[in-house]
Amino acid sequence: MDASGAQEYDRMQDLKDFDKTEAGVKGLVDSGLQKIPKIFVRPAEELAEDLKHKKAQIEVPVIDLGGLEKADRHKQIVEEVRTASETWGFFQVVNHGISLNVLDEMLDGIQKFNEQGVEEKKKYYTRDKIKRVRFHCNFDLFKSRTASWRDTLQISFSDPDQNDSEELPALCRKSTVEYSKHVVELGNILFGLLSEALGLKPEHLGNMDCSKGHHLTCHYYPACPEPELTLGTAKHSDPGFLTILLQNQINGLQIFFQNQWIDVQPIRGALVINIGDLLQLVSNGKFKSNKHRVVANRLGPRISVACFFSGPIIMDKVFYGPIEELISEENPAIYKEVLLSDYVMKFIAAGLDDNFLVNYFKV
Ligand code: OGA
Ligand code: NI
Repeated sequence: MDASGAQEYDRMQDLKDFDKTEAGVKGLVDSGLQKIPKIFVRPAEELAEDLKHKKAQIEVPVIDLGGLEKADRHKQIVEEVRTASETWGFFQVVNHGISLNVLDEMLDGIQKFNEQGVEEKKKYYTRDKIKRVRFHCNFDLFKSRTASWRDTLQISFSDPDQNDSEELPALCRKSTVEYSKHVVELGNILFGLLSEALGLKPEHLGNMDCSKGHHLTCHYYPACPEPELTLGTAKHSDPGFLTILLQNQINGLQIFFQNQWIDVQPIRGALVINIGDLLQLVSNGKFKSNKHRVVANRLGPRISVACFFSGPIIMDKVFYGPIEELISEENPAIYKEVLLSDYVMKFIAAGLDDNFLVNYFKV
């Protein structure tokens, strides 16, 4: 009880009770609720702050990767990648070499996983970071100011000793293994283009192991009865080097650019690419890791699959700092070298909530 005699709201207890259901947001929706629980409601001052930002109708650049093998076109693509990475930190790619069928199957597998009986899903519900396959509602549920309207299945492909596909949920096993193979190939192509866009040899970022170790973070955002009160994913930047995001046709992704929220419109067959904090760091600030979020939607489900390239799995001896070739007397290093394991620990400890990890490592 507080001074006025009103029952104090025990947020922690509510979070624990909700987590214990192991049924996620989808479980709430299935129970037929019309109002979202308080743990999901953003503070009034945050909602008011949001109204101050205009929404602009500009579009994130779309880069056509077709003809990459032709010298002229290749040069042009590198230029487009450079401009987008230096300004937006975001672009969409089309003609990227992954067939529509592989993309659709990936999304379909995630939909099936989330829409099966809850007992089967519960087998994967965990917050244990050691597990290769993890299903949960908000990795930072107990740390964030407000819970977000999404459930997530995370699958790591980082450890070559841990790649038994039998561990993956049956309903999305085949499609995920297939997509994973293709997305790694695309990742390698993109790291090549990004290296060239930095004026380096195509293999530079690859040789730094930026493309080593990826994980798929598969989000399921159920339709929300009160979308204006919550978010699907809170504002954040991605901590790794690069993210390749596959989204279905239900929009929600927005990026914060020039003080405005910009919708990233789903384009069928396209993939959204964004620069992460570590690439901002190694590029000495040349490339921008931009803040983004997902708004909740009355329509749903929105399904997205983020492939994060975050560097090698064994991180306790791996350091990353601004690339030597990019620093000079006129362009001194603006970031310190970081030990990858320290960096990842900081991210996990902080949760999403508007943290901008590279700021901790400014010179
Ligand atoms: C993320 C992310 C966007 C989305 O997982 O980091 O920004 O559309 N996801 O799910
Ligand atoms: Ni993100």
